[in-house]
Amino acid sequence: MNLKGRSFLTLKDFTPEEIMYLLDLAAELKQKKKQGITGNSLKGKNIALIFEKPSTRTRCAFTVGCVDEGGHPEYLGKNDIQLGHKESVEDTARVLGRMFDGIEYRGFAQDTVEKLAKYSGVPVWNGLTDSDHPTQILADFLTLKEQFGKLKELKLVYVGDGRNNMANSLMIGSSKVGIHFTILAPKSLWPEQSLIKLCEEYAAVSGSKIEISDSLDTVEGADAVYTDVWCSMGEEDKAAERIAILKPYQVNDDLLALTKKESTIFLHCLPAVKGKEVTEEVFERFADIVFDEAENRMHTIKAIMVATLGNH
Ligand code: CP
Ligand code: NVA
Repeated sequence: MNLKGRSFLTLKDFTPEEIMYLLDLAAELKQKKKQGITGNSLKGKNIALIFEKPSTRTRCAFTVGCVDEGGHPEYLGKNDIQLGHKESVEDTARVLGRMFDGIEYRGFAQDTVEKLAKYSGVPVWNGLTDSDHPTQILADFLTLKEQFGKLKELKLVYVGDGRNNMANSLMIGSSKVGIHFTILAPKSLWPEQSLIKLCEEYAAVSGSKIEISDSLDTVEGADAVYTDVWCSMGEEDKAAERIAILKPYQVNDDLLALTKKESTIFLHCLPAVKGKEVTEEVFERFADIVFDEAENRMHTIKAIMVATLGNH
């Protein structure tokens, strides 16, 4: 599999085989790291890390992943560079492309990360936008593979804000790899119809089933229940209204009982607001898996950089 020179902007651009290849590479890099073996695949490579929104996991995963492979990461926070303030995205992209070998971007519009890729001429990796968070999905799927030994035909139920970046990206990824995927959310927070339609097309190929519902009964049979914050970064003014409509969708013991399965696991991309989208009790019961998922951000992001930019 050759992904050299490719950007990683959304999983829409990747085939199921490419996604599975990245997961296998991440598992291999994880195993090596546990044995104390790091690589040299990014030796001589300079990597820009642009963050217009805060980050713990994504920033640290790119930094550690890059250094483990012999590269040099440079953090560029929102007040450190001219991007979008005194200089157009296109011009910043052309400058960074002449100095750096790869660029990570976290910010608002998907259009910005697409422009960075188009104008920089180097691989650009999406570290989260308002509509997509594709690197997170690889960590989630690696965790599911570790827990269940497979992805195909698992039932994954995402509960909460059904139109945010996580809901969108999980639906894209699941429909590509054959995971049966349910979004459980109030109707006002359902994803865009056009994205549902696109994912249904992917699902028709992979054999996955996509279901969008506001009825709690749809958690029945879930292998994994997933949630995310009710208010994403940049939407803080929506807090009161979201709490009011999402309260019935909190992941708590009553909701998990509706799976009618003992083996269901809980996942969260983090950061979590305990007492809101998930109870402290549920979170702590599944903490080992949730923090494996957080650790897997590093192995999967490293795999993306190695696959698209590395010399191996
Ligand atoms: N899950 C995730 O993207 O976490 P950060 O916001 O801390 O990067
Ligand atoms: N939906 C969340 C994800 C954080 C990783 C946000 O955008 O803030």
